Amino acid sequence: SKGAYEFYMLKEIDEQPGVMRHMSQNYLDDNGEPKVDQDILDAISKADRLYIFAAGTSYHAGLVGKTIFEHYTGIPTEVGLASEAGYHFPMMSKHPFFIFLTQSGETADSRVVLKEVNKRSIPSLTMTNVEGSTLSREATYTMLLGAGPEIAVASTKAYTAQIALQAVLAKALGEKLGKQEAKDWNLRQDLAMAAEGIQQIVDGKEKLKKLADDYLIKSRNAFYIGRGIDYAVALEAALKLKEVSYIQTEGFAAAELKHGTISLIEKGTPVVALINDPVTADLTRGNSQEVVSRGASVITIVGKDFAREGDDIVLPEINYYMSALLTVVPAQLLAYYASKDKGLDVDKPRNLAKSVTVE
Ligand code: M6R
Repeated sequence: SKGAYEFYMLKEIDEQPGVMRHMSQNYLDDNGEPKVDQDILDAISKADRLYIFAAGTSYHAGLVGKTIFEHYTGIPTEVGLASEAGYHFPMMSKHPFFIFLTQSGETADSRVVLKEVNKRSIPSLTMTNVEGSTLSREATYTMLLGAGPEIAVASTKAYTAQIALQAVLAKALGEKLGKQEAKDWNLRQDLAMAAEGIQQIVDGKEKLKKLADDYLIKSRNAFYIGRGIDYAVALEAALKLKEVSYIQTEGFAAAELKHGTISLIEKGTPVVALINDPVTADLTRGNSQEVVSRGASVITIVGKDFAREGDDIVLPEINYYMSALLTVVPAQLLAYYASKDKGLDVDKPRNLAKSVTVE
């Protein structure tokens, strides 16, 4: 039940620290070593390429997962929209392994791809929140997210759980393959820092309500910009905001704005800049200044190490590869308040269903 909450979306955002702790308890042993079925590891370690397929928010979690898998396992990883792959199956490497990310386990678009995968006898894994769901039954292997039921149409805790679970698998796989980055990775600490960091952010939610009220609710459009993992989060942040608030929002690779889209920036256009990538932080800062000078109202969401005076939201410290777990949370809250303060039904945006079982 919603308990004291007006909407499930906020309850589910608030539950994310618990989801991170649960992930650690479920999937790491007392030494912080990942507990992943040996069968899964044997199958996936034979792969020369990983193919992640999903839709919507789960697709965005896959984009973050790609960076994590490539860094910690050294296996090239491709991410695709299930709806685009079902009828135009991708060119594959010699030994592919498919990963399906799906909160509900019922998404028809993803199921079409899995059917093609099964026809070709390619091994697959479904990461899902729903035990016994269709995609979990039809894939070779399943790993459960354990995020607890997600009721709001807008997915929040399933996204962070999917990222954390991909991290668990990446660590196990990287260690099996002898990757030093995986052996040295203190994932238990990272998940603990994610839990604490998310808690700090949700404790400061009033600030996000104010930002949503001051900059978003009167606007017809908005932008999120970022590079690297921040770009992947920008896509998710934009989906979240548009889906529940009906403000047309685009997630953009920060540097791409100047290749066309910057012409949409007018006085007062809200642009949220995500700045956590150590390699490109200064460049994204530059891109955000470019839009300020064209009149945009910029909201900055910045990792502690890159923060400057006047930044709006400063995120607690975390490993860059896990930074999406924190960066997305202020974006979820901005979306929540933009929707609620416009008087909309936050949990049931128009025209949408929780699980999309049609193609
Ligand atoms: O159940 P799934 O993860 O397969 O669902 C995929 C999308 O339909 C879902 O993430 C959708 O985009 C959400 N409404 C996003 O908040």
